[in-house]
Amino acid sequence: MKDRYIGVFDSGIGGVTVLSEIIKLLPYENYIYYSDSLNNPYGNIDDDKLFEITCNIMDYFVSKNCKAVVIACNTASSKCSFKLREKYKDIIIVCIEPAYKMVHDYAYTNNCLVMATPGTINSEKFKNLYNKYDNGKTTILPCKYLANMIEEDNENLDNYLNEILSPYKNKVSSVVLGCTHYPLIKDKIKNILNNEMFFDGSIGCAKQLKKLLGEKDLINNINKVTKIKFIDSTNSNIKKERFIKYITKLSNGNIDFQ
Ligand code: DGL
Repeated sequence: MKDRYIGVFDSGIGGVTVLSEIIKLLPYENYIYYSDSLNNPYGNIDDDKLFEITCNIMDYFVSKNCKAVVIACNTASSKCSFKLREKYKDIIIVCIEPAYKMVHDYAYTNNCLVMATPGTINSEKFKNLYNKYDNGKTTILPCKYLANMIEEDNENLDNYLNEILSPYKNKVSSVVLGCTHYPLIKDKIKNILNNEMFFDGSIGCAKQLKKLLGEKDLINNINKVTKIKFIDSTNSNIKKERFIKYITKLSNGNIDFQ
């Protein structure tokens, strides 16, 4: 029972920033990471189609008898988590969300910039979060092409970042990274904005997963290492190599890739 898989998915390799935090808290699990490059970016897909896509991934995880699924994508979480939890009642579902509450809790008086996909920003779920924790000093920045440029390692990434972030240089001290791809370019963002701190939802997501597994006595204590099976919906080897490079660097873990 305890050695069943934990499924983790994103529209590509960005969810590696979430999985790396999960591994730090739950190092002896068997993970399947599903990188849905075929449908990247999720931010440009309408809600019904995205629900259908995420259901297909959920069905795959169910067929593998996963004990839990982590939606390591803010866009999919914002748009589909409610309906997915209704449909897949028998499986633990943990969702990332933009860490805007952390601004309220830890940096309320600071100027803040929230970066996320237009899909996340326009979602009902994000609007509710924002209305609840608004500190009155927040700018919301939809970054239409950013997730895809990071995913594709696009050569124009630096130019695009400069274009969208330069107006906020030296004007914000807190930045919410509301897309799981963005922590991968944290240094580039800081170089332009000169901000003091970042917030993202990955640690909260990891803690929540550990708590829910613990409550059901489902934490694996059999493995001696972390086991990860990587799947990309386009079968891309380049994605696999980049994923392995990132997860090894970010998690610092002892990982057996299957
Ligand atoms: N990593 C996804 C997120 O957190 C990227 C969204 C997309 O594919 O547009 O929102």
